[in-house]
Amino acid sequence: MPIQAIKGSYFSCPSYGQVDYHEDALIELDDQGVIQAIVNQDDPAYPDRVDHYRSQQNLVELTADQYLLPGFIDTHIHAPQWPQAGIALDRPLTEWLDQHTFPLEAKYADLDFAKRVYNDLVDQLLAHGTTTALYFATIHKEASLALAKICAEKGQRGLVGKVVMDDPAGNPDYYRDASTDQALADTEDFILAVRDLAKDVPQGVYPVVTPRFAPSCTDEALAGLGELAAKYNCHVQSHCSEGQWEHDFTKERFGKTDTEALADFGLFGPKSVMAHSNFINDDDAKIFCDHQTAVAHCPISNVYFANSVIPIRHLKDLGVQIGLGSDISGGFSPSLYDNIKQAVMSSRQLEEGVDTRLDQDDRGVANSRIGLNEAFYLATAGGGEALDLPIGQIAPGFAGDLQVVSTSKLPNFDIFSEPEHILQRILYLSNKEDIKAVYCQGRLVHAKG
Ligand code: GUN
Ligand code: FE
Repeated sequence: MPIQAIKGSYFSCPSYGQVDYHEDALIELDDQGVIQAIVNQDDPAYPDRVDHYRSQQNLVELTADQYLLPGFIDTHIHAPQWPQAGIALDRPLTEWLDQHTFPLEAKYADLDFAKRVYNDLVDQLLAHGTTTALYFATIHKEASLALAKICAEKGQRGLVGKVVMDDPAGNPDYYRDASTDQALADTEDFILAVRDLAKDVPQGVYPVVTPRFAPSCTDEALAGLGELAAKYNCHVQSHCSEGQWEHDFTKERFGKTDTEALADFGLFGPKSVMAHSNFINDDDAKIFCDHQTAVAHCPISNVYFANSVIPIRHLKDLGVQIGLGSDISGGFSPSLYDNIKQAVMSSRQLEEGVDTRLDQDDRGVANSRIGLNEAFYLATAGGGEALDLPIGQIAPGFAGDLQVVSTSKLPNFDIFSEPEHILQRILYLSNKEDIKAVYCQGRLVHAKG
């Protein structure tokens, strides 16, 4: 059963760049674990409502140094790459894929190995406050379904894709779909199996149509996956214009941008999320907007593989939906706290520029910085918008996805106690030791011992 009510001070983003703070509010949940009402301290009904839950012993109460944040939403993560987090990040993308990533992902033909890794990863993500994740699994139908089941059991909202890589020219013999037809048939079986599983999962578990990226798929597979996405009204994910190589490769192959090609194959829709998208131009951005397709911004991974810094502020100005992703293991950290920080820092470097041989005025790209409030939005409400789900905000009608963060270990000398400063410190300084409890759809999914 979900908790019925929780009382504490909370931060939430109702819109991009805006953070709301409410002190010691009472958050009431319904039987489905959805936030039903929020009663603030100045509401005349507040004392009675609090007493009501207290007397029934149905109230979770935060201490004065604890704060509630929405559960984080990781909009791009490769679950099978967890064992190599932090490894070989000095290699270029294609070499990293061929020599490290594909051999590792091939091991998920072994279901026991898959379960061992996936159990550990989902525990880790929950401990870091991530209540929803959009996962790439591997080409293996059974192991991908095992990941969905593990999310279901552990109470995390998992959106899982069996990866399609069918092109013999783009993939190694030992790790690719047996044929295009097999890839499409396995994807359809997987969609049906996850939909069946989802019937008994309160927080939701969702199948995702997942062409790895254009270079690993045939035209027939991309078109077939677009048809499956339409037939089942599924989420879709892929990589789009990540680095210079992918950007140039797709232009050469299709005579158009990655965005145009993927959209023309029917892979862009309101439930589509394209990882990285670092090289998209303004016309591409318009295609994202027209289809309400989102970008998964992966700031740590981008330091290694993007050959660029994505102009997040410009894309937001154009109206593109953007969520935040860890991109394990292109990014080394499972923590969206770490990715929030990097999103801010990378945008600052884009704005200031990096080459001191250039004049200050010529060095950077003006108006590129984003602040913590914006990055916090990307990790929460932006993810909800990207996935087209009522998650990522502490507000009535949203799922009761919450993390309880303690500030007791942060520097505290009775100064800098403004809410704005408290949030800044939480986002910059806290780590998983400070996350005391995590709720997904109102259910306790992690408690720090
Ligand atoms: N492009 C295709 N596959 C991958 C992957 O696993 N990681 C990253 N970062 N980019 C990719
Ligand atoms: Fe990726």
